[in-house]
Amino acid sequence: MTKIAILPGDGIGPEIIDQAVRVLDALGESFEMERAPVGGAGYAAHGHPLPEATLKLAKEADAVLFGAVGDYRYDTLERALRPEQAILGLRKELGLFANLRPAILYPELAGASTLKPEVVSGLDILIIRELTGDIYFGKPRGVRECPDGPFKGQREGFDTMRYAEGEIRRIAHVAFQAAQKRDKRVTSVDKANVLETFQFWRDIVTDVHKEYPDVALEHMYVDNAAMQLVRAPKKFDVIVTGNMFGDILSDAAAMLTGSIGMLPSASLDANNKGLYEPSHGSAPDIAGKGVANPLATILSAAMMLRYSLNKAEQADRIESAVKSVLQQGLRTPDIFEDGTQRVGTQEMGDAVVRALR
Ligand code: IPM
Ligand code: MG
Repeated sequence: MTKIAILPGDGIGPEIIDQAVRVLDALGESFEMERAPVGGAGYAAHGHPLPEATLKLAKEADAVLFGAVGDYRYDTLERALRPEQAILGLRKELGLFANLRPAILYPELAGASTLKPEVVSGLDILIIRELTGDIYFGKPRGVRECPDGPFKGQREGFDTMRYAEGEIRRIAHVAFQAAQKRDKRVTSVDKANVLETFQFWRDIVTDVHKEYPDVALEHMYVDNAAMQLVRAPKKFDVIVTGNMFGDILSDAAAMLTGSIGMLPSASLDANNKGLYEPSHGSAPDIAGKGVANPLATILSAAMMLRYSLNKAEQADRIESAVKSVLQQGLRTPDIFEDGTQRVGTQEMGDAVVRALR
């Protein structure tokens, strides 16, 4: 039987995961779903943000549905024990190098964006972020005595930016193949004018592109990409970039759609096994209030069905149900506008379940 690891995490994580689980239950498939604590909840239960049993479950499951981690109660812990280490550890341990973050603007939500409707309406871009390399994981890193320059002898913090050829090749393949199923355009975002790592990135992406003559490739510096994303975001189709730039650009892209509460994500390994999570965080300020938007998590469950569980039809059903509740005018507070109906987390879940039938 298909096994799904359910990792709710912290803050609003448990509330939004509950709604996604209800939606999965309503599909009429027989999934085995097993829960385990992660993040601050993992630390509280087992003294570690990624408890061994949780990691084991994630490894043996066919897919992982993840809520969110992070809670200010744990911000004073040493870095290795902070909630964020859970998601970083899962990405690394499961080899989830390809992070897919679609940013789609539903026509009903065009008014929720802070950008003019004509700039964003119809937006449909896919950010592909490399997820297990770059300055996020590069070693050495730490705090040491500054070895040279005007501050020699003082303490300095440092990290290492690096990308191996194979790491760049595999993410480039993911991007070109994704583009083949869309508008056949890839923008590779780098900082080749300053960084050795990203000149190398540009050279390798250019080389991989030779295998995809049907896809158009353009290169763009990250600062320009940030500008273009808010100036003319619809010009993009697939954006591929490294871990650090992808972290930043994907938040910017998310906000184009008005609410980060709407955006799912998939993190895939080389065999399309994946971890699925909403693009937003744990929002501890609204946790437990029943107001969080569960749609990003519900849409993440749809991505899971499509990419890891080979059930595209069920994924379509969920995505249509989400569109239908938006058409009905139901809105959680993050996407509320005058003339729509304000609902809570549970009611939104109810509506999606109803719309599935
Ligand atoms: C994300 C988050 C994570 C990241 C944090 C929570 C470690 O911002 O998934 O974008 O930086 O990758
Ligand atoms: Mg981020």
